[in-house]
Amino acid sequence: MKIIRTSQPLNDRERNAYLFKGDLILFSRIPAMLELQREMDELIRSHFGDQTSLSDRFQSDPQGFAAEMALLQTSFYKAARMRDLFKDALAQSGMSIQHNYADKLFLRCVPPTRDSNSQFRGSIGQHRDTWGSNIQHQINWWSPIYPISNGNTLTFYPHYWSTPVVNTTADWSFEAFRKARQQAQSISANAQIDYPYAPQAVETVTDEGVNILLDPGDLLCFSSAHLHGSSAEPRSGFRFNLEMRSFGDKDTDRDTPPENVDNAQANPHYHWFNRISDGGKYLR
Ligand SMILES: [Fe+2]
Repeated sequence: MKIIRTSQPLNDRERNAYLFKGDLILFSRIPAMLELQREMDELIRSHFGDQTSLSDRFQSDPQGFAAEMALLQTSFYKAARMRDLFKDALAQSGMSIQHNYADKLFLRCVPPTRDSNSQFRGSIGQHRDTWGSNIQHQINWWSPIYPISNGNTLTFYPHYWSTPVVNTTADWSFEAFRKARQQAQSISANAQIDYPYAPQAVETVTDEGVNILLDPGDLLCFSSAHLHGSSAEPRSGFRFNLEMRSFGDKDTDRDTPPENVDNAQANPHYHWFNRISDGGKYLR
């Protein structure tokens, strides 16, 4: 696994030639990403003030914290401006947005604790995103809003690129997750979801892993087939990041995708994705 840092755009085929063999690409200082980081900081401050008051509130008033996080997520999902800036950032990285499909842009907040399966996509264990969608040529886009350290970034496990991991793909169901999330929402804003977000590893991954460090305004791109997770030192403070998953149409993704080494799901979830340029459906 090589980490390729570039400030130059790469078109879909150039980018995927790296990603599909397991390399990571780090696009540095993308203009639209820098602007998005600035506006996201403003939005987060309008709900939580600075980082100190965020931590204080999390410790002293978990209910109030969760309620404010729900309001922040609502503000974020209403802000078409944020989605437009992210779309611009993808185009500035070299992606053809007319030929690529993406799921929703997510705002993840990882609190400094391990035991979170909150409604706001907290810390997550080792997994491959392809286990959830079952789309083998899918790729991930990821960017931190504030500076990160080894203790609160993403960790990759390159040994498992071609090595199977015992996992729950045979039994996990999106419908069951959706029902559990609805139930949590009906209880309260900080009720935990009683079902995993996505299939999970059930064996202990003993590899040390590789932490990836990047700055706000940078955009990390990797194959969704990579085994990865949130880094193991949760006491490093809150992490806010933006993330999205995408794949290209058949004219764009002509190269052989990474091999499926351990996903037992039967059907791909294409319906989670829409064309990035205009929101059109993916028609196979
Ligand atoms: Fe992931």
